[in-house]
Amino acid sequence: MVEPTIENNKFFDLTGKKALVSGAGRGIGKAVALGLARAGADIGLVARTESEIDAVAGQVKEIGRRAAVAASDLTVTADIPALVSGLAGELGGIDILVNNAGTNIPQDSVDVTEEAWDSVMAINLKSSFFMAQAVGKVMIEQGRGGRIINMSSQTGSVALIKRAAYCASKAGLNLVTKVLAMEWGPHEILVNAVAPTFVETEMTKPMLADPQFREYALAKNVLKRFGTTDDVAGAVIYLASPAANLVTGHILLVDAGWTAH
Ligand SMILES: NC(=O)c1ccc[n+]([C@@H]2O[C@H](COP(=O)([O-])OP(=O)(O)OC[C@H]3O[C@@H](n4cnc5c(N)ncnc54)[C@H](OP(=O)(O)O)[C@@H]3O)[C@@H](O)[C@H]2O)c1
Repeated sequence: MVEPTIENNKFFDLTGKKALVSGAGRGIGKAVALGLARAGADIGLVARTESEIDAVAGQVKEIGRRAAVAASDLTVTADIPALVSGLAGELGGIDILVNNAGTNIPQDSVDVTEEAWDSVMAINLKSSFFMAQAVGKVMIEQGRGGRIINMSSQTGSVALIKRAAYCASKAGLNLVTKVLAMEWGPHEILVNAVAPTFVETEMTKPMLADPQFREYALAKNVLKRFGTTDDVAGAVIYLASPAANLVTGHILLVDAGWTAH
């Protein structure tokens, strides 16, 4: 990483960096991929829906960066090492991983099935860990440090009804973030998480279509608005950049003040 100074104004410069973004086909992951590209990084994009990651890859190229895509179900963890080494080969290494792919199945706890529990945990927690493991090995081997940014949620810190598995997965991811930060600090691999409040995406469309739920959520929110995907991308760019050179093991709440009270 470039040493940022007031004089060189390189605080958010990612020129030449190689970033892998999971869940990059839409929503927050798409904004993160495009934001990192605008900051100078070449981007590897992963999700199951090939047409979506192809479209975002086209936008990355329009910005003037290189893009590589891999359509894959990340819950098939046995495939992750080959996927990561393929993208690292195409891009010329990996400097930044954004573990963003995730899902939510809101249900009353009395109705949660084992299948629903397992599918939330599989993508939000298990695949995020094994992606970090595969990328961490590449970064250690490269010997040029790196950044891993896990997409957590405010629900990793505060409870929300109908989200037992989701809250557990994000709280687990917060602690995985801290463990990896401790283990890989000696390799200059900085590991952090971003924890957003509600952001209007495909995932939250059904929840935020309910006027009562909107009212409840906005009442908890100090800024009285939901997040945009760019609000979250800004936090990720910060954690990926030289501006965050001394930040590791941190959970950065991007929550419009939800957890302030
Ligand atoms: N939106 C919010 O309010 C909010 C708040 C806090 C945290 N978050 C977190 O932010 C992240 C992104 O959320 P979002 O709202 O942008 O969701 P989204 O619009 O539903 O996008 C999710 C992305 O993850 C990918 N994905 C899901 N399952 C996958 C799998 N098994 N393998 C590979 N890719 C997979 C999806 O692509 P495919 O379906 O094509 O695979 C898609 O690209 C999630 O981790 C979520 O928990 C969201």
